[in-house]
Amino acid sequence: MRQLVHYLLLQMVAGDSGCCSYLVGSGQEFMLVDPLNDVERFLKKVGQEGGKLVGVLDTHVHADHVSGSRELQKLTACPIYMYETSPVKFPFLPLVEREYEIAGLKIQVLHTPGHAPEHVCLLVEDRVVLTGDTLLVRDVGRTDLGRGDPSQLYDSIFNKLLRLDDRVELMPGHVGKAHFVSGDNSSTIGLERRTNPALKAKTREEFIQYMTEGWPPKPNHYEQYIKVNSGLIELKDAQFANTG
Ligand SMILES: [Fe+2]
Repeated sequence: MRQLVHYLLLQMVAGDSGCCSYLVGSGQEFMLVDPLNDVERFLKKVGQEGGKLVGVLDTHVHADHVSGSRELQKLTACPIYMYETSPVKFPFLPLVEREYEIAGLKIQVLHTPGHAPEHVCLLVEDRVVLTGDTLLVRDVGRTDLGRGDPSQLYDSIFNKLLRLDDRVELMPGHVGKAHFVSGDNSSTIGLERRTNPALKAKTREEFIQYMTEGWPPKPNHYEQYIKVNSGLIELKDAQFANTG
């Protein structure tokens, strides 16, 4: 039987946006999950930990920030991992729903569409689940940014994530003012099961109703972010200027 390995998991939160990136690995090898494009910050952290970057992974095509994955690949030659159906115009290693060994760790890939069709969550060493924008702390990922589907999100949360053990630690893709009510940067499956307002829905229909009401304004330029992160346009050609 495989022994539980020692591992390091570091959450790095972007102050303004609350976007979370994760450095995860065995100590000798690391993977970055959902890195932003200020890539020096991440490379410095990998160096401080004394390890080598062996991969970057985007849980989905992001709609609220520029991914740093391609820049990190250029600088380090490490592969980019994404779910196999990711609609991007650059090479990547396609993930399917199964167990992998990456950066010295056992990583179970869970396909969790809803926020975006290609979304994956990552169960690390059966202890921690990186949930991206699927299940957040006292919140769930929104489904109104053009590529979402609340019915799929229902299945991803209720029929996959909530089947994990209550003790599994939950590390989300977002914290902060746009999403949180708790002020916590992490949770557990059990705590969310008991306290997350979105999970009070007793039926799929109730959940879908919850998902259609009460959301804050959509993030600025989300369509531009999707195009940049899909490789459809270059960052320099994106129109992020606030035209009022
Ligand atoms: Fe997202």
